[in-house]
Amino acid sequence: MPITLTADERRHFKTHGRKKGFLKEKDAEHLKETLPSLTLAASDHRDKLLAQFKPQKPESAKLWLEIGFGNGDYLSHLAALHPQDCFIGVDVFLMGVSSLLRRLERQQSVNVKLAVDSANIVLLEKIPLNSLDRVVINFPDPWPKKRHHKRRLIQSEFLDLISQRMVSGGLISLATDWAEYSQWMLEHLEAHEDFINTVTNGGFAPQPENWLTTNFQKKGQKAGRPARHLLFQKQ
Ligand SMILES: C[S@@+](CC[C@H](N)C(=O)[O-])C[C@H]1O[C@@H](n2cnc3c(N)ncnc32)[C@H](O)[C@@H]1O
Repeated sequence: MPITLTADERRHFKTHGRKKGFLKEKDAEHLKETLPSLTLAASDHRDKLLAQFKPQKPESAKLWLEIGFGNGDYLSHLAALHPQDCFIGVDVFLMGVSSLLRRLERQQSVNVKLAVDSANIVLLEKIPLNSLDRVVINFPDPWPKKRHHKRRLIQSEFLDLISQRMVSGGLISLATDWAEYSQWMLEHLEAHEDFINTVTNGGFAPQPENWLTTNFQKKGQKAGRPARHLLFQKQ
């Protein structure tokens, strides 16, 4: 059952990093006009969540969640690739939200809902238990300094929240170009009793099918940081 957090509890999940950037006036206007109708409402059941998508999707539609979609390149790519499925995008970076809204409009995708808030809060307040078929987390901020590791998105408690909201058999895929964070992700996921590595002998997964290399990934590649992928299944 989704819950409503108190102001203090919300503060606990403060996100670090950029949130606004410089939005041109016309983009700010467009965002103000478009975002409300695409904003995800809280649901206490998967069916009610699916019912927010118009036209109505069949029960067989897969429900995807991308956390930290950035400029929305991958989310819009997935939404176009799987028009029969439903997508939820979560991020706090308004310039990215604005780019995504424009792209969804251009490609006429109507299968995406957004939540502009910290992922922890969205999971707790808006996503019903046992509802997500796919979770995607690509290139989360690596917070490389040791004293900042607690800011990293991937933590055991965060994996608990995600796991509770995934259906059994659901898949979570992650990517990072930060070698030490990729090990951190692998250790946290392998240590979590609800997840099993889809790679038979453990370790990193191949690049997902229909992958899209974003500008963010290209920058990492240029700097000599190849991406590593992980694919785990909720038991
Ligand atoms: C390094 S960018 C990667 C963007 C995108 N996934 C890509 O591959 O290009 C990380 C994104 O995660 C978002 N982010 C960071 N912390 C977050 C949180 N707690 N909840 C939701 N989004 C978050 C940031 O705003 C940023 O857009």
